[in-house]
Amino acid sequence: MTVDTTSADLFNGMRIKHTRIARVMDDLKTLIYPTSQDSILLVCGPTGVGKTTLARHVVDAGVQDATREMQRDAGLIPAVYVQAPSSGESQFSWKLFYQRILAQLDGGLPLPRHDFGVSAHTGRLVRPFGPSANSLAALRTAVERALRERGTQFLVIDEAAHLIRQTRRNHLEIQLDTLKSLANESGTQMVLVGSYDLYALMSLSGQLARRTHVLHFERYRQDVPEDIRAFQACVQKFQDALPGLWGQRLLTHAEALQDNTLGCIGTLSSVLTRAAKLAQSRGGWSVDVLREALLTEAQRTKILEEILDGEAAINPGLTRTMPKASTGRRPENRKAA
Ligand SMILES: Nc1ncnc2c1ncn2[C@@H]1O[C@H](COP(=O)(O)OP(=O)(O)O)[C@@H](O)[C@H]1O
Ligand SMILES: [Mg+2]
Repeated sequence: MTVDTTSADLFNGMRIKHTRIARVMDDLKTLIYPTSQDSILLVCGPTGVGKTTLARHVVDAGVQDATREMQRDAGLIPAVYVQAPSSGESQFSWKLFYQRILAQLDGGLPLPRHDFGVSAHTGRLVRPFGPSANSLAALRTAVERALRERGTQFLVIDEAAHLIRQTRRNHLEIQLDTLKSLANESGTQMVLVGSYDLYALMSLSGQLARRTHVLHFERYRQDVPEDIRAFQACVQKFQDALPGLWGQRLLTHAEALQDNTLGCIGTLSSVLTRAAKLAQSRGGWSVDVLREALLTEAQRTKILEEILDGEAAINPGLTRTMPKASTGRRPENRKAA
Protein backbone atom coordinates (compact mmCIF):
# COMPACT_ATOMS: atom_id res chain seq x y z
CA MET A 1 0.00 0.00 0.00
CA THR A 2 1.15 3.55 -0.54
CA VAL A 3 1.32 6.07 2.20
CA ASP A 4 1.44 9.73 1.39
CA THR A 5 4.75 10.69 2.88
CA THR A 6 5.16 13.80 0.79
CA SER A 7 3.43 15.82 3.45
CA ALA A 8 5.27 16.26 6.71
CA ASP A 9 2.01 15.47 8.40
CA LEU A 10 1.75 11.78 7.85
CA PHE A 11 -0.93 11.33 10.46
CA ASN A 12 -3.13 13.93 8.84
CA GLY A 13 -3.07 16.43 11.66
CA MET A 14 -4.38 13.77 14.01
CA ARG A 15 -4.38 15.00 17.59
CA ILE A 16 -4.94 12.27 20.11
CA LYS A 17 -6.76 13.59 23.13
CA HIS A 18 -4.99 11.23 25.48
CA THR A 19 -5.44 11.09 29.26
CA ARG A 20 -2.67 13.51 30.14
CA ILE A 21 -3.52 16.15 27.57
CA ALA A 22 -7.21 15.99 28.54
CA ARG A 23 -6.32 16.42 32.19
CA VAL A 24 -4.13 19.49 31.64
CA MET A 25 -6.80 20.96 29.35
CA ASP A 26 -9.46 20.47 32.00
CA ASP A 27 -7.25 22.09 34.63
CA LEU A 28 -6.62 25.07 32.37
CA LYS A 29 -10.32 25.42 31.68
CA THR A 30 -10.96 25.51 35.42
CA LEU A 31 -8.21 28.01 36.13
CA ILE A 32 -9.00 30.45 33.34
CA TYR A 33 -11.84 32.72 34.37
CA PRO A 34 -12.46 36.47 34.03
CA THR A 35 -10.79 37.67 37.22
CA SER A 36 -7.97 35.16 37.30
CA GLN A 37 -5.16 37.34 35.94
CA ASP A 38 -3.47 37.84 39.28
CA SER A 39 -1.39 34.75 38.74
CA ILE A 40 0.28 33.49 35.62
CA LEU A 41 -0.32 29.89 34.60
CA LEU A 42 2.67 27.77 33.71
CA VAL A 43 2.49 24.51 31.79
CA CYS A 44 5.79 22.63 32.04
CA GLY A 45 6.77 19.24 30.71
CA PRO A 46 9.52 17.36 28.90
CA THR A 47 10.56 18.00 25.32
CA GLY A 48 8.36 15.95 23.02
CA VAL A 49 5.58 15.36 25.52
CA GLY A 50 3.24 17.34 23.25
CA LYS A 51 3.20 20.82 24.79
CA THR A 52 2.86 22.73 21.53
CA THR A 53 0.10 20.37 20.46
CA LEU A 54 -1.65 20.95 23.78
CA ALA A 55 -1.24 24.73 23.46
CA ARG A 56 -2.88 24.79 20.04
CA HIS A 57 -5.58 22.40 21.23
CA VAL A 58 -6.42 24.63 24.19
CA VAL A 59 -6.69 27.71 21.98
CA ASP A 60 -8.90 25.88 19.46
CA ALA A 61 -11.12 24.64 22.29
CA GLY A 62 -11.34 28.18 23.69
CA VAL A 63 -12.53 29.44 20.31
CA GLN A 64 -14.93 26.51 19.98
CA ASP A 65 -16.42 27.19 23.40
CA ALA A 66 -17.10 30.79 22.44
CA THR A 67 -18.96 29.95 19.21
CA ARG A 68 -22.21 31.45 20.43
CA GLU A 69 -20.62 34.73 21.52
CA MET A 70 -18.72 34.87 18.25
CA GLN A 71 -21.90 34.53 16.26
CA ARG A 72 -23.20 37.59 18.05
CA ASP A 73 -19.91 39.46 17.77
CA ALA A 74 -17.66 38.36 14.95
CA GLY A 75 -14.90 40.65 16.19
CA LEU A 76 -14.20 38.38 19.15
CA ILE A 77 -10.95 36.43 19.38
CA PRO A 78 -11.34 34.57 22.67
CA ALA A 79 -7.99 32.76 22.67
CA VAL A 80 -4.65 33.38 21.03
CA TYR A 81 -1.54 31.22 20.51
CA VAL A 82 1.81 32.92 20.08
CA GLN A 83 5.39 31.69 20.14
CA ALA A 84 7.82 33.78 22.13
CA PRO A 85 10.54 34.87 19.69
CA SER A 86 13.99 33.46 20.31
CA SER A 87 16.57 36.16 20.53
CA GLY A 88 19.83 34.25 20.28
CA GLU A 89 22.49 36.02 22.26
CA SER A 90 20.64 39.28 22.73
CA GLN A 91 17.85 40.30 25.09
CA PHE A 92 14.30 39.17 24.52
CA SER A 93 12.62 41.33 21.91
CA TRP A 94 9.37 42.67 23.34
CA LYS A 95 8.86 44.50 20.09
CA LEU A 96 8.85 41.34 18.03
CA PHE A 97 6.69 39.66 20.63
CA TYR A 98 4.08 42.45 20.55
CA GLN A 99 4.11 42.44 16.76
CA ARG A 100 3.40 38.72 16.76
CA ILE A 101 0.46 39.15 19.11
CA LEU A 102 -0.93 41.99 17.00
CA ALA A 103 -0.66 39.86 13.88
CA GLN A 104 -2.87 37.26 15.58
CA LEU A 105 -5.41 39.82 16.68
CA ASP A 106 -5.62 41.66 13.39
CA GLY A 107 -7.93 39.10 11.86
CA GLY A 108 -9.66 41.48 9.42
CA LEU A 109 -12.93 40.35 10.87
CA PRO A 110 -16.27 41.94 10.06
CA LEU A 111 -18.81 43.31 12.52
CA PRO A 112 -16.70 45.12 15.06
CA ARG A 113 -18.15 45.75 18.50
CA HIS A 114 -16.62 49.16 18.98
CA ASP A 115 -15.66 51.94 16.67
CA PHE A 116 -12.62 52.69 18.75
CA GLY A 117 -9.64 50.41 18.47
CA VAL A 118 -11.26 48.27 15.80
CA SER A 119 -12.28 50.06 12.59
CA ALA A 120 -16.00 50.22 11.94
CA HIS A 121 -15.36 49.93 8.21
CA THR A 122 -12.96 47.07 7.96
CA GLY A 123 -13.17 45.32 11.31
CA ARG A 124 -9.40 45.57 11.44
CA LEU A 125 -7.42 47.04 14.26
CA VAL A 126 -6.75 50.71 14.11
CA ARG A 127 -3.09 51.24 14.79
CA PRO A 128 -1.28 54.45 15.51
CA PHE A 129 0.38 56.08 12.52
CA GLY A 130 3.46 58.23 12.26
CA PRO A 131 7.08 57.83 13.22
CA SER A 132 6.34 56.59 16.74
CA ALA A 133 3.84 53.96 15.61
CA ASN A 134 6.36 51.19 15.99
CA SER A 135 7.86 52.41 19.23
CA LEU A 136 7.74 49.93 22.05
CA ALA A 137 5.25 52.06 23.98
CA ALA A 138 2.91 52.38 20.99
CA LEU A 139 3.07 48.66 20.31
CA ARG A 140 2.39 47.90 23.91
CA THR A 141 -0.65 50.17 23.96
CA ALA A 142 -1.88 48.63 20.72
CA VAL A 143 -1.57 45.11 22.20
CA GLU A 144 -3.38 46.06 25.40
CA ARG A 145 -6.17 47.67 23.44
CA ALA A 146 -6.41 44.89 20.90
CA LEU A 147 -6.66 42.20 23.58
CA ARG A 148 -9.40 44.17 25.29
CA GLU A 149 -11.29 44.94 22.08
CA ARG A 150 -11.09 41.35 20.90
CA GLY A 151 -12.33 40.11 24.26
CA THR A 152 -9.34 37.77 24.47
CA GLN A 153 -9.74 35.58 27.56
CA PHE A 154 -6.35 33.96 27.38
CA LEU A 155 -3.06 34.21 25.56
CA VAL A 156 -0.95 31.07 25.32
CA ILE A 157 2.75 31.83 25.01
CA ASP A 158 4.68 28.82 23.75
CA GLU A 159 8.47 28.53 24.13
CA ALA A 160 8.04 30.91 27.03
CA ALA A 161 11.56 30.31 28.36
CA HIS A 162 12.70 32.72 25.63
CA LEU A 163 11.02 35.49 27.62
CA ILE A 164 13.46 35.14 30.45
CA ARG A 165 16.34 32.98 29.28
CA GLN A 166 18.77 35.76 28.39
CA THR A 167 17.71 37.89 31.28
CA ARG A 168 19.95 38.70 34.19
CA ARG A 169 18.58 37.31 37.38
CA ASN A 170 17.57 40.62 38.90
CA HIS A 171 15.67 41.44 35.73
CA LEU A 172 13.54 38.31 35.78
CA GLU A 173 10.91 39.98 37.92
CA ILE A 174 10.78 42.96 35.58
CA GLN A 175 10.10 40.70 32.60
CA LEU A 176 7.29 38.99 34.44
CA ASP A 177 5.94 42.29 35.77
CA THR A 178 5.66 43.48 32.20
CA LEU A 179 3.61 40.43 31.34
CA LYS A 180 1.56 40.66 34.52
CA SER A 181 0.61 44.26 33.89
CA LEU A 182 -0.32 43.36 30.31
CA ALA A 183 -2.64 40.72 31.79
CA ASN A 184 -4.17 43.21 34.18
CA GLU A 185 -4.58 46.01 31.68
CA SER A 186 -6.21 43.81 29.09
CA GLY A 187 -8.09 41.40 31.34
CA THR A 188 -6.38 38.51 29.56
CA GLN A 189 -5.05 35.44 31.35
CA MET A 190 -1.45 34.58 30.44
CA VAL A 191 -0.54 30.92 30.00
CA LEU A 192 3.18 30.22 29.63
CA VAL A 193 4.20 26.92 28.07
CA GLY A 194 7.70 25.51 28.16
CA SER A 195 9.96 22.63 29.04
CA TYR A 196 11.50 22.13 32.46
CA ASP A 197 14.02 24.92 31.88
CA LEU A 198 11.10 27.36 32.11
CA TYR A 199 10.29 26.00 35.54
CA ALA A 200 13.93 26.17 36.59
CA LEU A 201 14.16 29.82 35.50
CA MET A 202 10.97 30.72 37.31
CA SER A 203 12.06 29.13 40.53
CA LEU A 204 15.20 31.30 40.63
CA SER A 205 12.99 33.97 42.08
CA GLY A 206 10.69 33.46 45.04
CA GLN A 207 8.73 36.47 43.80
CA LEU A 208 7.98 34.78 40.51
CA ALA A 209 7.26 31.41 42.05
CA ARG A 210 4.67 33.02 44.31
CA ARG A 211 2.84 34.58 41.40
CA THR A 212 2.66 31.57 39.13
CA HIS A 213 0.61 28.42 39.23
CA VAL A 214 2.33 25.39 37.76
CA LEU A 215 0.66 22.59 35.83
CA HIS A 216 2.88 19.60 35.19
CA PHE A 217 2.40 17.98 31.77
CA GLU A 218 4.09 14.69 32.55
CA ARG A 219 5.24 11.78 30.44
CA TYR A 220 3.61 8.36 30.80
CA ARG A 221 5.68 6.49 33.35
CA GLN A 222 6.73 2.89 32.92
CA ASP A 223 6.26 2.16 36.61
CA VAL A 224 2.60 3.17 36.73
CA PRO A 225 0.11 0.59 35.32
CA GLU A 226 -2.42 3.31 34.47
CA ASP A 227 0.25 5.16 32.47
CA ILE A 228 1.21 1.98 30.60
CA ARG A 229 -2.41 1.49 29.58
CA ALA A 230 -2.77 5.11 28.48
CA PHE A 231 0.42 4.89 26.42
CA GLN A 232 -0.79 1.66 24.78
CA ALA A 233 -4.04 3.37 23.88
CA CYS A 234 -2.00 6.01 22.03
CA VAL A 235 0.01 3.39 20.15
CA GLN A 236 -3.31 1.82 19.20
CA LYS A 237 -4.52 5.14 17.78
CA PHE A 238 -1.36 5.52 15.71
CA GLN A 239 -1.77 1.92 14.51
CA ASP A 240 -5.39 2.56 13.53
CA ALA A 241 -4.41 5.72 11.67
CA LEU A 242 -2.33 3.80 9.13
CA PRO A 243 -3.80 0.28 9.20
CA GLY A 244 -2.47 -0.62 5.77
CA LEU A 245 1.05 0.08 6.88
CA TRP A 246 1.32 -1.46 10.35
CA GLY A 247 -1.37 -4.10 10.22
CA GLN A 248 -2.03 -5.13 13.81
CA ARG A 249 1.63 -5.44 14.68
CA LEU A 250 2.52 -2.05 16.08
CA LEU A 251 0.77 -2.65 19.38
CA THR A 252 2.99 -5.62 20.15
CA HIS A 253 5.89 -3.15 20.36
CA ALA A 254 4.15 -0.73 22.71
CA GLU A 255 6.41 -1.53 25.65
CA ALA A 256 9.60 -1.04 23.65
CA LEU A 257 8.21 2.17 22.20
CA GLN A 258 7.34 3.53 25.65
CA ASP A 259 10.82 2.70 26.85
CA ASN A 260 12.51 4.36 23.90
CA THR A 261 10.34 7.48 23.81
CA LEU A 262 10.30 7.77 27.60
CA GLY A 263 6.53 7.83 27.50
CA CYS A 264 6.35 11.10 25.57
CA ILE A 265 3.56 11.11 22.95
CA GLY A 266 5.15 13.78 20.75
CA THR A 267 8.35 11.75 20.56
CA LEU A 268 6.28 8.64 19.82
CA SER A 269 4.67 10.51 16.96
CA SER A 270 8.07 11.55 15.58
CA VAL A 271 9.46 8.01 15.83
CA LEU A 272 6.43 6.52 14.09
CA THR A 273 6.46 9.16 11.37
CA ARG A 274 10.11 8.33 10.72
CA ALA A 275 9.36 4.60 10.73
CA ALA A 276 6.52 5.05 8.25
CA LYS A 277 8.73 7.04 5.91
CA LEU A 278 11.53 4.49 6.10
CA ALA A 279 9.00 1.72 5.51
CA GLN A 280 7.84 3.40 2.37
CA SER A 281 11.31 3.84 0.94
CA ARG A 282 12.22 0.24 1.83
CA GLY A 283 9.01 -1.09 0.35
CA GLY A 284 7.51 -2.38 3.57
CA TRP A 285 7.40 -2.40 7.31
CA SER A 286 9.54 -4.59 9.55
CA VAL A 287 10.84 -4.64 13.09
CA ASP A 288 14.23 -3.57 11.73
CA VAL A 289 12.68 -0.47 10.17
CA LEU A 290 11.02 0.38 13.47
CA ARG A 291 14.30 -0.12 15.31
CA GLU A 292 16.05 2.20 12.92
CA ALA A 293 13.50 4.92 13.57
CA LEU A 294 13.96 4.84 17.35
CA LEU A 295 15.88 7.46 19.32
CA THR A 296 19.54 6.54 19.60
CA GLU A 297 20.76 5.56 23.03
CA ALA A 298 22.67 8.86 23.28
CA GLN A 299 19.56 10.90 22.46
CA ARG A 300 17.45 8.92 24.86
CA THR A 301 19.97 9.27 27.68
CA LYS A 302 20.19 13.01 27.21
CA ILE A 303 16.41 13.45 27.25
CA LEU A 304 16.08 11.14 30.23
CA GLU A 305 18.58 13.24 32.19
CA GLU A 306 16.59 16.38 31.49
CA ILE A 307 13.37 14.66 32.47
CA LEU A 308 14.73 13.32 35.75
CA ASP A 309 16.16 16.72 36.71
CA GLY A 310 12.92 18.43 35.75
CA GLU A 311 10.73 15.97 37.62
CA ALA A 312 12.91 16.18 40.71
CA ALA A 313 12.69 19.98 40.64
CA ILE A 314 9.01 20.24 39.93
CA ASN A 315 7.57 17.49 42.07
CA PRO A 316 8.52 18.74 45.54
CA GLY A 317 7.44 22.21 44.38
CA LEU A 318 4.07 20.84 43.41
CA THR A 319 3.44 19.31 46.81
CA ARG A 320 1.43 21.99 48.47
CA THR A 321 1.18 21.69 52.23
CA MET A 322 -2.32 21.69 53.58
CA PRO A 323 -3.08 23.49 56.86
CA LYS A 324 -4.10 21.04 59.59
CA ALA A 325 -7.84 20.62 59.82
CA SER A 326 -9.34 22.33 62.84
CA THR A 327 -11.14 20.10 65.36
CA GLY A 328 -13.55 22.88 66.19
CA ARG A 329 -12.63 22.65 69.89
CA ARG A 330 -10.81 25.36 71.79
CA PRO A 331 -7.46 24.39 73.21
CA GLU A 332 -7.63 23.29 76.83
CA ASN A 333 -5.15 25.87 78.13
CA ARG A 334 -7.23 28.77 76.77
CA LYS A 335 -10.22 27.63 78.75
CA ALA A 336 -8.18 27.82 81.91
CA ALA A 337 -7.07 31.38 81.13
N1 LIG B 1 -1.72 14.20 21.18
C1 LIG B 1 -1.04 14.06 20.03
N2 LIG B 1 -1.59 13.41 18.98
C2 LIG B 1 -0.93 13.29 17.83
N3 LIG B 1 0.30 13.79 17.58
C3 LIG B 1 0.90 14.45 18.58
C4 LIG B 1 0.27 14.62 19.85
N4 LIG B 1 1.10 15.31 20.66
C5 LIG B 1 2.18 15.58 19.92
N5 LIG B 1 2.08 15.08 18.67
C6 LIG B 1 3.07 15.24 17.57
O1 LIG B 1 4.37 15.05 18.09
C7 LIG B 1 5.27 16.03 17.63
C8 LIG B 1 5.91 16.76 18.80
O2 LIG B 1 4.91 17.32 19.61
P1 LIG B 1 4.99 18.79 20.24
O3 LIG B 1 3.63 19.19 20.63
O4 LIG B 1 5.71 19.70 19.31
O5 LIG B 1 5.88 18.52 21.53
P2 LIG B 1 6.62 19.55 22.52
O6 LIG B 1 6.11 20.92 22.21
O7 LIG B 1 6.26 19.10 23.90
O8 LIG B 1 8.08 19.39 22.28
C9 LIG B 1 4.48 16.95 16.72
O9 LIG B 1 4.72 16.59 15.39
C10 LIG B 1 3.04 16.68 17.07
O10 LIG B 1 2.19 16.82 15.97
MG1 LIG C 1 6.96 22.75 21.65
